[in-house]
Amino acid sequence: MEAQNGSWVHEITYLRISVTDKCNMKCSYCRPLNIDYIPHRELLSYEEIRDVVSIMKDFGLKKVRITGGEPLLRPQIWNLISLLKAQSLESISMTTNGTYLKEYGKLLKDAGLDTINISLDTLSQDKFKHITKTDIKPVLDGIYEASSLGFNIKLNTVLIRNFNDDEVIPLVEFAKDVNARIRFIELMPVGKLDFFNKSKIVYNHQVYELLEKTYGKLIALAPDGSKSAKRFLIESINTEVGFISPMSSPFCDGCSKLRLTPEGTLMYCLRTNSGINIKKLIREEGIEAFKNMMPEIIRQKNLSNEYIINNDYNFLDCNRAMTSIGG
Ligand code: 5AD
Repeated sequence: MEAQNGSWVHEITYLRISVTDKCNMKCSYCRPLNIDYIPHRELLSYEEIRDVVSIMKDFGLKKVRITGGEPLLRPQIWNLISLLKAQSLESISMTTNGTYLKEYGKLLKDAGLDTINISLDTLSQDKFKHITKTDIKPVLDGIYEASSLGFNIKLNTVLIRNFNDDEVIPLVEFAKDVNARIRFIELMPVGKLDFFNKSKIVYNHQVYELLEKTYGKLIALAPDGSKSAKRFLIESINTEVGFISPMSSPFCDGCSKLRLTPEGTLMYCLRTNSGINIKKLIREEGIEAFKNMMPEIIRQKNLSNEYIINNDYNFLDCNRAMTSIGG
């Protein structure tokens, strides 16, 4: 069967694994202030996650990213990294808010983590507190620690109009100073929060223009991994910038990414609620049942891509907060 729109995906190459819905931050664009956390017994165990990854490898999986909530709040998360490392994937990365990196960075490095994405929307203590309800200091310490441990670091910045859109250049300069790459992510209306308002979105072409005006022509780089980011080199400061533009330039066509929620639902996309409960499947019928279902999951992923494309890339019914799907 071929897709009517977009390109048909034959394998799943990238999996984002959300290991907890807990987070020490309360970012306004990510989660409601008060939520009931998922009880521990409902979470997929590290061994179950490893088994899922091992099956998916036979269906094309190359890269995994560990996310949350805040993944470093899940006890001994480095043990999961060691289990995944033994699977010989192309890369294992983590998205974290950075608070606990000073404490755990070395353990993560030793376990085999390759890349760390750290969320950083501002360099101002006051604005940081406003958006996350926590202090910036541990995060900056965590970034310095990750940098000195030699991690491949990406900073993730969500720009919000009239809030932090005056910080593009300081953030790029900061990325250069800590030897990191930086990604600008357009604000997405995920999770039905009051915070969202179209006027808050800063479109990436504006960021691109500002960077070109400041630093001169940007050099386009080939896409990597999930292809969500358009990457460029700012040659004059030898720093890589990436634009993730889900609002102005959706990248659903050919998307071969899946998300695993903490309680074991495999989600096809942030734009829809559709997913499949694989925890129930593997606990009741065993991991072989998941293997047998993989072709159907790939078929459903394609239908999900088509459905989104046919609906003009709208965010259709994504009720879950970002914090429980994994950013
Ligand atoms: N829009 C865009 N990015 C978001 N993130 C969380 N919520 C949103 C949203 N509504 C990003 C965070 C973090 C990553 C995990 O997801 O900035 O870097």
